[in-house]
Amino acid sequence: MRIPIVGGNWKMNRGTPEQSKEMLKELIPLINHIINVEIVIAPPFTSLIGAYEILKGTNIKLSAQNMYFEEKGAFTGEISPNFLKEIGAEYVILGHSERRNIFNESDDLINKKLKKALNIGLKPIVCIGEHLEEREAGKTKEIIKYQMDRTFKDLKKDQIIQTVIAYEPIWAIGTGKTATPEQAEEIHVFIRGILSQKFDQETADLIRIQYGGSIKPDNAEDLFGKKNIDGGLVGGASLQANSLAHIIKAAEKTFN
Ligand code: 13P
Repeated sequence: MRIPIVGGNWKMNRGTPEQSKEMLKELIPLINHIINVEIVIAPPFTSLIGAYEILKGTNIKLSAQNMYFEEKGAFTGEISPNFLKEIGAEYVILGHSERRNIFNESDDLINKKLKKALNIGLKPIVCIGEHLEEREAGKTKEIIKYQMDRTFKDLKKDQIIQTVIAYEPIWAIGTGKTATPEQAEEIHVFIRGILSQKFDQETADLIRIQYGGSIKPDNAEDLFGKKNIDGGLVGGASLQANSLAHIIKAAEKTFN
Protein backbone atom coordinates (compact mmCIF):
# COMPACT_ATOMS: atom_id res chain seq x y z
CA MET A 1 0.00 0.00 0.00
CA ARG A 2 1.56 3.27 -1.12
CA ILE A 3 0.17 6.58 0.13
CA PRO A 4 0.15 8.95 -2.85
CA ILE A 5 2.24 12.06 -2.58
CA VAL A 6 1.40 15.34 -4.29
CA GLY A 7 4.06 18.03 -4.35
CA GLY A 8 3.74 21.64 -5.40
CA ASN A 9 6.99 22.84 -6.92
CA TRP A 10 6.71 26.59 -7.15
CA LYS A 11 10.10 26.91 -8.87
CA MET A 12 10.97 30.63 -9.12
CA ASN A 13 7.44 31.47 -10.27
CA ARG A 14 5.78 32.49 -7.06
CA GLY A 15 6.96 32.89 -3.60
CA THR A 16 7.91 36.12 -2.01
CA PRO A 17 7.35 35.49 1.70
CA GLU A 18 4.08 37.43 1.47
CA GLN A 19 2.81 35.57 -1.60
CA SER A 20 3.68 32.25 -0.03
CA LYS A 21 1.83 32.99 3.18
CA GLU A 22 -1.19 34.22 1.28
CA MET A 23 -1.35 31.11 -0.93
CA LEU A 24 -0.83 28.67 1.94
CA LYS A 25 -3.49 30.35 4.09
CA GLU A 26 -5.88 29.87 1.20
CA LEU A 27 -4.84 26.26 0.61
CA ILE A 28 -4.94 24.92 4.17
CA PRO A 29 -8.72 25.04 4.72
CA LEU A 30 -9.35 23.46 1.32
CA ILE A 31 -7.39 20.31 2.09
CA ASN A 32 -7.00 20.07 5.87
CA HIS A 33 -9.38 17.09 6.06
CA ILE A 34 -7.28 14.95 3.72
CA ILE A 35 -5.38 12.11 5.37
CA ASN A 36 -4.76 9.66 2.53
CA VAL A 37 -2.45 11.88 0.53
CA GLU A 38 0.93 13.19 1.60
CA ILE A 39 1.03 16.86 0.66
CA VAL A 40 4.29 18.71 0.13
CA ILE A 41 4.98 22.30 -0.89
CA ALA A 42 8.32 23.50 -2.22
CA PRO A 43 8.56 27.30 -2.15
CA PRO A 44 11.76 29.20 -2.92
CA PHE A 45 14.44 29.17 -0.19
CA THR A 46 13.63 32.68 0.99
CA SER A 47 10.07 31.70 1.86
CA LEU A 48 10.80 28.45 3.67
CA ILE A 49 10.95 29.90 7.18
CA GLY A 50 7.74 31.88 6.80
CA ALA A 51 6.00 28.92 5.17
CA TYR A 52 7.04 26.65 8.02
CA GLU A 53 5.40 28.96 10.55
CA ILE A 54 2.12 28.67 8.68
CA LEU A 55 2.34 24.95 7.95
CA LYS A 56 3.28 23.87 11.47
CA GLY A 57 0.59 21.53 12.78
CA THR A 58 -1.13 21.14 9.39
CA ASN A 59 -1.14 18.17 6.99
CA ILE A 60 1.18 20.00 4.56
CA LYS A 61 4.89 19.29 4.64
CA LEU A 62 7.65 21.59 3.57
CA SER A 63 10.23 20.86 0.89
CA ALA A 64 13.23 22.70 -0.49
CA GLN A 65 13.81 22.79 -4.24
CA ASN A 66 17.51 21.94 -4.03
CA MET A 67 20.48 21.62 -1.66
CA TYR A 68 24.23 21.03 -1.75
CA PHE A 69 25.89 17.78 -0.75
CA GLU A 70 28.28 19.32 1.75
CA GLU A 71 27.03 20.32 5.20
CA LYS A 72 29.31 23.31 5.67
CA GLY A 73 32.17 25.21 4.10
CA ALA A 74 33.24 27.69 1.45
CA PHE A 75 30.50 27.06 -1.13
CA THR A 76 29.22 30.52 -1.98
CA GLY A 77 25.60 30.54 -3.02
CA GLU A 78 24.85 26.99 -1.95
CA ILE A 79 22.52 25.76 0.79
CA SER A 80 23.44 23.18 3.39
CA PRO A 81 21.00 20.33 4.02
CA ASN A 82 21.45 21.03 7.73
CA PHE A 83 20.16 24.57 7.30
CA LEU A 84 17.08 23.16 5.58
CA LYS A 85 16.47 20.62 8.31
CA GLU A 86 16.85 23.19 10.99
CA ILE A 87 14.13 25.42 9.56
CA GLY A 88 11.64 22.58 9.30
CA ALA A 89 12.02 21.26 5.76
CA GLU A 90 11.17 17.57 5.64
CA TYR A 91 11.67 16.98 1.90
CA VAL A 92 14.07 18.17 -0.77
CA ILE A 93 13.66 17.97 -4.54
CA LEU A 94 16.84 16.72 -6.21
CA GLY A 95 17.87 16.45 -9.83
CA HIS A 96 14.96 18.37 -11.30
CA SER A 97 15.39 18.55 -15.07
CA GLU A 98 15.81 22.32 -14.77
CA ARG A 99 18.76 21.71 -12.43
CA ARG A 100 20.15 19.09 -14.81
CA ASN A 101 19.69 21.08 -18.01
CA ILE A 102 20.10 24.73 -17.04
CA PHE A 103 22.61 24.29 -14.23
CA ASN A 104 24.41 21.26 -15.65
CA GLU A 105 23.84 18.99 -12.68
CA SER A 106 25.14 15.51 -13.42
CA ASP A 107 23.82 12.17 -12.24
CA ASP A 108 26.96 11.88 -10.15
CA LEU A 109 26.31 15.19 -8.37
CA ILE A 110 22.67 14.24 -7.78
CA ASN A 111 23.81 10.89 -6.36
CA LYS A 112 26.03 12.75 -3.87
CA LYS A 113 23.19 15.06 -2.88
CA LEU A 114 20.83 12.11 -2.53
CA LYS A 115 23.14 10.23 -0.20
CA LYS A 116 23.70 13.31 1.90
CA ALA A 117 19.98 14.10 2.15
CA LEU A 118 19.27 10.54 3.28
CA ASN A 119 22.16 10.67 5.69
CA ILE A 120 20.93 13.69 7.54
CA GLY A 121 17.27 12.71 7.39
CA LEU A 122 15.82 14.87 4.63
CA LYS A 123 13.43 12.91 2.41
CA PRO A 124 14.43 13.21 -1.22
CA ILE A 125 12.17 13.58 -4.24
CA VAL A 126 14.45 12.62 -7.13
CA CYS A 127 13.47 13.58 -10.67
CA ILE A 128 14.27 11.62 -13.79
CA GLY A 129 12.96 11.95 -17.33
CA GLU A 130 13.76 12.04 -21.01
CA HIS A 131 13.99 14.81 -23.62
CA LEU A 132 11.57 14.91 -26.54
CA GLU A 133 14.26 13.82 -29.03
CA GLU A 134 15.08 10.84 -26.85
CA ARG A 135 11.44 9.78 -26.72
CA GLU A 136 11.05 10.25 -30.46
CA ALA A 137 14.16 8.14 -31.05
CA GLY A 138 12.62 5.35 -28.94
CA LYS A 139 15.27 5.79 -26.25
CA THR A 140 13.10 6.65 -23.24
CA LYS A 141 13.72 3.43 -21.33
CA GLU A 142 17.43 3.46 -22.08
CA ILE A 143 17.70 7.01 -20.73
CA ILE A 144 15.66 6.23 -17.63
CA LYS A 145 17.80 3.19 -16.88
CA TYR A 146 20.99 5.21 -17.41
CA GLN A 147 19.80 7.95 -15.05
CA MET A 148 18.67 5.44 -12.42
CA ASP A 149 21.92 3.45 -12.53
CA ARG A 150 23.92 6.57 -11.79
CA THR A 151 21.55 8.60 -9.65
CA PHE A 152 20.76 5.69 -7.31
CA LYS A 153 24.28 4.22 -7.33
CA ASP A 154 25.27 2.46 -4.09
CA LEU A 155 21.96 3.16 -2.41
CA LYS A 156 20.90 0.64 0.22
CA LYS A 157 17.46 -0.83 0.51
CA ASP A 158 16.47 1.23 3.56
CA GLN A 159 17.61 4.35 1.70
CA ILE A 160 15.71 3.79 -1.53
CA ILE A 161 12.55 3.15 0.50
CA GLN A 162 12.86 6.70 1.89
CA THR A 163 13.21 8.10 -1.61
CA VAL A 164 10.36 9.37 -3.77
CA ILE A 165 10.98 9.17 -7.50
CA ALA A 166 9.39 11.73 -9.81
CA TYR A 167 9.13 10.70 -13.45
CA GLU A 168 9.04 14.00 -15.29
CA PRO A 169 9.30 13.72 -19.08
CA ILE A 170 11.04 16.96 -20.02
CA TRP A 171 8.79 17.51 -23.03
CA ALA A 172 5.78 17.62 -20.73
CA ILE A 173 7.14 20.18 -18.26
CA GLY A 174 5.54 23.59 -18.56
CA THR A 175 4.42 22.81 -22.11
CA GLY A 176 0.78 21.96 -21.50
CA LYS A 177 1.56 18.67 -23.23
CA THR A 178 0.89 15.98 -20.63
CA ALA A 179 1.98 12.38 -21.04
CA THR A 180 -1.11 10.25 -21.46
CA PRO A 181 -1.91 8.10 -18.44
CA GLU A 182 -0.85 5.08 -20.53
CA GLN A 183 2.48 6.64 -21.54
CA ALA A 184 3.22 7.58 -17.95
CA GLU A 185 2.13 4.22 -16.53
CA GLU A 186 4.36 2.38 -19.00
CA ILE A 187 7.42 4.21 -17.73
CA HIS A 188 6.36 3.92 -14.09
CA VAL A 189 6.09 0.14 -14.52
CA PHE A 190 9.53 0.18 -16.14
CA ILE A 191 11.00 2.20 -13.25
CA ARG A 192 9.48 -0.17 -10.71
CA GLY A 193 10.89 -3.09 -12.67
CA ILE A 194 14.39 -1.64 -12.46
CA LEU A 195 13.94 -1.09 -8.73
CA SER A 196 12.92 -4.71 -8.30
CA GLN A 197 16.07 -5.82 -10.16
CA LYS A 198 18.30 -3.52 -8.15
CA PHE A 199 16.67 -4.37 -4.82
CA ASP A 200 13.75 -6.80 -4.73
CA GLN A 201 10.07 -6.81 -5.61
CA GLU A 202 8.92 -6.10 -2.07
CA THR A 203 11.15 -3.02 -1.89
CA ALA A 204 10.11 -1.85 -5.37
CA ASP A 205 6.46 -2.12 -4.36
CA LEU A 206 7.01 0.26 -1.45
CA ILE A 207 8.58 3.08 -3.45
CA ARG A 208 6.42 5.96 -4.54
CA ILE A 209 6.77 7.10 -8.13
CA GLN A 210 5.18 10.45 -8.91
CA TYR A 211 4.40 11.72 -12.36
CA GLY A 212 5.25 15.34 -13.24
CA GLY A 213 4.63 17.43 -16.35
CA SER A 214 1.61 19.65 -17.05
CA ILE A 215 -0.61 18.06 -14.42
CA LYS A 216 -3.84 20.04 -14.26
CA PRO A 217 -7.10 19.69 -12.33
CA ASP A 218 -8.69 18.13 -15.41
CA ASN A 219 -6.10 15.44 -16.09
CA ALA A 220 -4.95 14.56 -12.57
CA GLU A 221 -7.57 11.94 -11.83
CA ASP A 222 -6.87 9.92 -14.98
CA LEU A 223 -3.15 9.97 -14.31
CA PHE A 224 -3.43 9.13 -10.61
CA GLY A 225 -5.90 6.37 -11.44
CA LYS A 226 -3.09 4.28 -12.88
CA LYS A 227 -1.79 1.59 -10.59
CA ASN A 228 1.85 2.67 -10.58
CA ILE A 229 1.36 6.44 -10.48
CA ASP A 230 1.56 7.44 -6.84
CA GLY A 231 0.66 11.11 -7.06
CA GLY A 232 2.38 13.93 -8.85
CA LEU A 233 4.88 16.74 -8.77
CA VAL A 234 3.03 19.82 -9.94
CA GLY A 235 4.54 23.03 -11.27
CA GLY A 236 2.26 25.64 -12.84
CA ALA A 237 -0.98 24.27 -11.44
CA SER A 238 0.41 24.37 -7.89
CA LEU A 239 0.62 28.16 -7.87
CA GLN A 240 -3.09 28.64 -7.22
CA ALA A 241 -4.66 27.18 -4.09
CA ASN A 242 -7.83 26.06 -5.86
CA SER A 243 -6.16 24.15 -8.64
CA LEU A 244 -3.65 22.49 -6.33
CA ALA A 245 -6.46 21.50 -3.94
CA HIS A 246 -8.33 19.97 -6.86
CA ILE A 247 -5.27 17.90 -7.81
CA ILE A 248 -4.75 16.77 -4.21
CA LYS A 249 -8.39 15.68 -4.05
CA ALA A 250 -7.93 13.73 -7.28
CA ALA A 251 -5.10 11.81 -5.59
CA GLU A 252 -7.33 11.11 -2.60
CA LYS A 253 -10.16 9.90 -4.82
CA THR A 254 -7.98 7.40 -6.65
CA PHE A 255 -6.30 6.07 -3.50
CA ASN A 256 -7.28 2.51 -2.73
P1 13P B 1 4.54 21.84 -14.79
O1 13P B 1 3.45 21.20 -13.94
O2 13P B 1 4.46 23.33 -14.81
O3 13P B 1 4.60 21.21 -16.14
O4 13P B 1 5.94 21.51 -14.06
C1 13P B 1 6.22 20.21 -13.69
C2 13P B 1 7.44 20.19 -12.86
O5 13P B 1 8.51 20.45 -13.36
C3 13P B 1 7.29 19.88 -11.43
O6 13P B 1 8.52 19.69 -10.83
